Amino acid sequence: MRVKLSSFLATAALLVAASAAACSSTKNEAVAPVAGPDGDAGADATVDPASYPVVTIGAEMQRTGDPAKGYRALVNEPYVPCGIPLTAYSQVYPTVAAKDVIPGREGKNANLAYNFTSMTTKDGVDLVTSNCLTCHAGRINGKLVVGLGAADSDFTNDAASQIQTTGFVGALLTDPKERAEWTKWKERVDTVAPYSVLSTRGPNPADGFTAVLFAHHDPKTMAWSSTPLMAVPPPADVPVDVPPWWRMKKKTSMFYVGAGRGDHARIMMTASILCTSSVDESRAIDAYFGDIRAWIASLDAPAYPFTIDHALADRGKPVFDATCSRCHGTYGAGAQYPNRLISTEEIGTDPILASGTAEFAGPFVDWFKNSFFGDVARLEPQKGYVAPPLDGIWATAPYLHNGSVPTLAALLDSTKRPKYWTRSFVDTDYDQVGVGWNFTTLDHGKDAETVDKTKRALYDTTRLGYANAGHTFGDALSDDDRAAVIEYLKTL
Ligand code: HEC
Ligand code: HEC
Repeated sequence: MRVKLSSFLATAALLVAASAAACSSTKNEAVAPVAGPDGDAGADATVDPASYPVVTIGAEMQRTGDPAKGYRALVNEPYVPCGIPLTAYSQVYPTVAAKDVIPGREGKNANLAYNFTSMTTKDGVDLVTSNCLTCHAGRINGKLVVGLGAADSDFTNDAASQIQTTGFVGALLTDPKERAEWTKWKERVDTVAPYSVLSTRGPNPADGFTAVLFAHHDPKTMAWSSTPLMAVPPPADVPVDVPPWWRMKKKTSMFYVGAGRGDHARIMMTASILCTSSVDESRAIDAYFGDIRAWIASLDAPAYPFTIDHALADRGKPVFDATCSRCHGTYGAGAQYPNRLISTEEIGTDPILASGTAEFAGPFVDWFKNSFFGDVARLEPQKGYVAPPLDGIWATAPYLHNGSVPTLAALLDSTKRPKYWTRSFVDTDYDQVGVGWNFTTLDHGKDAETVDKTKRALYDTTRLGYANAGHTFGDALSDDDRAAVIEYLKTL
């Protein structure tokens, strides 16, 4: 029961990822060409690299906010304002484990795990709601880091078992007001549950959520409709590795495909539409999201906790600057980050997220434009991926937007990338040499695996959306230079 409820709650929290999903619906259009040829030494040899367009995403004004107030709001305010009555929750989780406690929690939140937030409704019902940290707090080497993407999530449970669990928790409730809250939450969660399932443990099922949540809200009034008001694409198995928040200090857009434009705070708060039903409710939440964005944009990456060979790292810097910095920027004194979006043709990594649900995206981009969110923000999905800032890259394995490559050593030598692999999901099982997660290479893919648990933990790069191809810029480096670059990356 405990395990089931927890995965069910995680699913609910997942639905919070409206913002995440937003980015995965994409328009089927080529990256807008911007002036200037570009020499891409590491790219596909059959295409003249000079023909690739250079796309830079320019900065737009962001609301000012108070980072300290933002952290307080992030960990205490109920911005996803529906959930499970506290009476039912505390029967299952009477106490909070020490490993799940984070600083700054006030009132009833002090007794909840970091990824749950308490609220009291107008009718006086105490609820436990989900928050951003289910996906945006991760464990590494025994530490829970707020802002690191959770890389050990398990979204492989099927919707039917989740819905059964819903019924079980509902049966714990007798008070009619509590039952009413429960029924509201259950309807929302049941609506999106089919879109919350992936074949593989680790990545996040971002694609599809927003589509569903948008479709069930009137964009003008934000009123919830039990039936969809527009056509919704079918559920898809599209894996996304949750990016770390500290990148937002440098990034001018949100999401891998650069979709989130304009006021980032407004886009971040789309997560609340799992529960909201009116513009007034959204406006009240938006009022403090400028502070939350300010906190997120103030974050620095955590320092590499193990030994660094500084002489070797110093040798790596010029190699990195010559081979990688035109996309990923420079670090240290005079650091610069170019905010470049690289087309799927040029980068060659799995194109599914970027090309995505091309035929469906238009109406959802329009929904956003016509809604409260569209007043100050826009969705502009591109057929490419932003080259991310590499600060704290040591902590963010597995690599690439779909989490298909377990270590930096494998990322920078494509011949070393495992086709079928698995890992322990133990946060101390860290590879200081390869830099990333220790992994086991398997000789077979998902279809040939008969043990269910092993199958779910098996990353099969031959599956649609899960490919580990492309980004071959490290292949041409000598082994010495590659080792030096990896050492340098530890210092970022
Ligand atoms: C269920 C998991 C989940 C929840 C809950 C969630 N997110 Fe995300 N978030 C993601 C994923 C996955 C992405 C990456 C999506 C992509 O780029 O395709 C993302 C992307 C982001 C980004 C952009 C990062 C970048 O480098 O572009 C920000 C900022 C962000 N989320 C903030 C939030 C905030 C604030 C909340 C809570 C209000 C929240 N998220 C809730 C999963 C989640
Ligand atoms: C032409 C531009 C370009 C060049 C040159 C380039 N990269 Fe990248 N890099 C990207 C893009 C775009 C992505 C994101 C691809 C994706 O997620 O599918 C990426 C992803 C990465 C990632 C994974 C980030 C993550 O969140 O998982 C690392 C690490 C990285 N690059 C390191 C390097 C290093 C080191 C070099 C030089 C040897 C380099 N890159 C050269 C564009 C580039």
